[in-house]
Parts: sequence; C-alpha cells; structure tokens
Amino acid sequence: MGAIWAQSPQGVIGKDGTIPWHVPEDLRFFSITTTGNPVIMGRRTWESFPPKFRPLPARPNIVVTSRPETVASDQENVWTAASYAEALDLARSLLAEPDGDIWAIGGTRIWADALAHETLPLTRAFVTTVDLAVDGDTVAPRLDDSWQRRELADWAESSKGPRFRVDEYTRS
Ligand SMILES: NC(=O)c1ccc[n+]([C@@H]2O[C@H](COP(=O)([O-])OP(=O)(O)OC[C@H]3O[C@@H](n4cnc5c(N)ncnc54)[C@H](OP(=O)(O)O)[C@@H]3O)[C@@H](O)[C@H]2O)c1
Repeated sequence: MGAIWAQSPQGVIGKDGTIPWHVPEDLRFFSITTTGNPVIMGRRTWESFPPKFRPLPARPNIVVTSRPETVASDQENVWTAASYAEALDLARSLLAEPDGDIWAIGGTRIWADALAHETLPLTRAFVTTVDLAVDGDTVAPRLDDSWQRRELADWAESSKGPRFRVDEYTRS
C-alpha cells in the first residue's frame, strides 16, 4: 500500500481545489508510478482533475464519497466507495496481480485512514517536494520517525520553472 503526493517545503499540497504549481515532470512520475494499479482518492481530488483528464487512464479509479451521484461512476474504470475500508476492499479485488500495488493519491482523510489502517497500513510513500513558497488550504500528512527517507532524485529544474526533488519513504 503506497501513497504519492507533491508538496511545497512547508507541506502545502492544494489550494482552492487545485494544485498551486505546474510541474509536468512530476505528473509524468505520478503517471508512471500509478498506471496499471488501483488508485484511491477523495471526492475533492477527483473533482480537481479536469473532466477530460478523468478518470485517470489505465488504472482503476476509486473515489470515496457520501455523494456517489456526483461522480460519473458509469464511466469505465471508475468506482465509488462510501468509506476508505470499502475503497480498499474494492482496490484489492481490482488488482491485476495479487501482490500488486494500491496507491492512496489524496487528499488528507484518505492518507490519514491509509496511515492508520490496521491490516494494510501504508508502508511506502513517494513525496515530491516543489521548491515554492505557496499559500494553501490542504496539507500533506506528517511522516513520523518510523519512516526512513531515501532520496530518489536530487533537485532538478522543471521545464516550467520550480526546482523539485523526489524522496521515497518506507517503513516496515
Ligand atoms: N499535491 C498533491 O499531490 C495533491 C494530491 C491530491 C490532492 N491534492 C489537492 O488536495 C485538495 C483535495 O484534497 P482534500 O483533502 O481537500 O479532499 P479529498 O480527500 O480529495 O476529498 C474530500 C472528500 O472525499 C470524501 N472522503 C475523503 N476521505 C474520506 C473517508 N475516509 N471517508 C469518507 N469520505 C471521505 C468526502 O466526500 P463527500 O463530501 O462527497 O462525502 C470528503 O468531503 C485539492 O486542492 C487537490 O488539488 C493535491
């Protein structure tokens, strides 16, 4: 069970229903990492994708919501779930291979539930840091001392300007 997000150095991940930067290299990394595997997201994260880019292609999209009618779950590759636990059961049933990955792609409650899950807690997180001081209304989870950080990619400059770096966090 993995998580993936991009944050500012201060931990901001979102503002006004969107991500307050554009780093196409990180979108490519997100896509390569999650394609082929189920992704679990909250309703606002689903809504943050422009309609023409959702569902995210070539992977089961599972949206947690109490209002499934707001999600076009009649589209191929889209499911809704009323809770994180239900989403996880669904994700497991949709795995292409029994030991495949499931990705929690946000937002805040999804990651909190994934971190705290008793039988299948998060053991891996890919965190991109985008070197911008931005205001926001949504923040990344804090990973405590049980997590080990490994630098996956050193600072690089995005074609769109900001520097970014990718770290992998793991815990056993
Ligand atoms: N930088 C990044 O990597 C990144 C990644 C993801 C998202 N974002 C940004 O973060 C923001 C969205 O995140 P968010 O935290 O505000 O919202 P969110 O978690 O995406 O969506 C919240 C909604 O999802 C449902 N939900 C989520 N967790 C649930 C749970 N455990 N049990 C039941 N329902 C649950 C509820 O929907 P109902 O109200 O329908 O019941 C809730 O109102 C946007 O700005 C987005 O662009 C950034």
